[in-house]
Amino acid sequence: MKTTGCFHDSKWDIEIKIIRKEVDCMVKNKFDFDEVLDRRGTASEKWDFMKERFGYEDLLPLWVADMDFRSPQPVIEALVSRAKHGVFGYTGLTQPYYDSVISWYKRRYNWAIRKDWIVFTPGVIPAIAYAIRSFTNPGDKIIVQTPVYYPFFNTIEANGRQVLENPLKFKNDHYEMDFDDLEKKAKDPRAKMMILCSPHNPIGRVWTRKELTRLGEICIENGLLVISDEIHSDIRYPGIVFTNFATISGEFANSSITCTSASKTFNLAGLQISNIIIPNDKIRQNFQNAVSTMGMDLPNSFSGLAVQVAYDRCGTWLDQLLTYLKGNLDFLKEFIKKNIPEVKVIEPQATYLVWLDFRKIEPDPEKLQKLLLKDAKVAFVEGNIFRSGGDGFERINIACPRSVLKRALEQMARVLKDGR
Ligand SMILES: Cc1ncc(COP(=O)(O)O)c(C=O)c1O
Repeated sequence: MKTTGCFHDSKWDIEIKIIRKEVDCMVKNKFDFDEVLDRRGTASEKWDFMKERFGYEDLLPLWVADMDFRSPQPVIEALVSRAKHGVFGYTGLTQPYYDSVISWYKRRYNWAIRKDWIVFTPGVIPAIAYAIRSFTNPGDKIIVQTPVYYPFFNTIEANGRQVLENPLKFKNDHYEMDFDDLEKKAKDPRAKMMILCSPHNPIGRVWTRKELTRLGEICIENGLLVISDEIHSDIRYPGIVFTNFATISGEFANSSITCTSASKTFNLAGLQISNIIIPNDKIRQNFQNAVSTMGMDLPNSFSGLAVQVAYDRCGTWLDQLLTYLKGNLDFLKEFIKKNIPEVKVIEPQATYLVWLDFRKIEPDPEKLQKLLLKDAKVAFVEGNIFRSGGDGFERINIACPRSVLKRALEQMARVLKDGR
């Protein structure tokens, strides 16, 4: 049998030694985000499961929140080297891994996370499910701000809890929290938890420190645990300031669980790893118990390495990505203004997801989705599944080469113009 070399000679092992500090080899290399990759046949949820999801196969898919870009080259090389080693036994998270996560949050957010606050889970949705099971009882109510990322509903309801909606206010093409309504909902004796989507999917808001402070005070006053889902926080447009909920005060840190991940940032969702930050010892121990009880406390052989290399070496790749996404956003706004001005773009402050208002063209969600799927042959996410306030809207994912985005917009414009 041919051997692939000793583990200690491997390239990734050497890399591990040098990545304590940011050694950004991407600085000189400009990444080509225009390259169109064929993702079909990779069991991609976005490209290979359209028939199951939408009933059609030949669509241009701009739906699931992952990107049609390759991950940064240092991540790919580290994973290839690791794969060549060929032994995929049980794997843990090393000190350098934790150093990378801690350093990322210190550098990018000025948030001093301690190693013992970090709990591994195989994703943010699993983390939310563990939190629901650990800190609420069947029948309890969990507050969410609709329209919002729809798997929250299923995670709440499949665990026998109830969704309590605190709908966002939509005025002059801008979303705001409704604090009067939140105060009422938080007083409901069955309300035990709030899932904060920050930045907010699908409407793209980055909540201000003032908004987060008011929300946190209401939750603390009423004894609600806040789950702050910050999975999209790295993807922000120029000049937008983000505040981690837990950094607002010691009391906020003590009454919250922050869900973080490198998965949106570096397109690693299929590796299934997230870092859940829980400063409160008691809450963390309960949460960790829930994770361990389900036997989900070990990562796979690739995920920790990918995150470590991404955080240590790929900051410049992310900066280039953000520039490209801003270009896509500007392109989309310009295209819609010129070709289908009846469609309103709700400009995101963060995320590569854009919330489009089609109500002037077709307010009926079913008719709208049929128009887009059957006639325009594009797959976006239908607004009504984000619940209240979603009818007549669609969520489009712009994390794709500009040529693909252009094609999707042209297909959509042709059909919508014909229908006018
Ligand atoms: C707000 C939000 N939370 C969680 C997730 C899913 O996270 P994970 O894949 O880590 O479960 C997504 C994915 O789109 C998301 O948008």
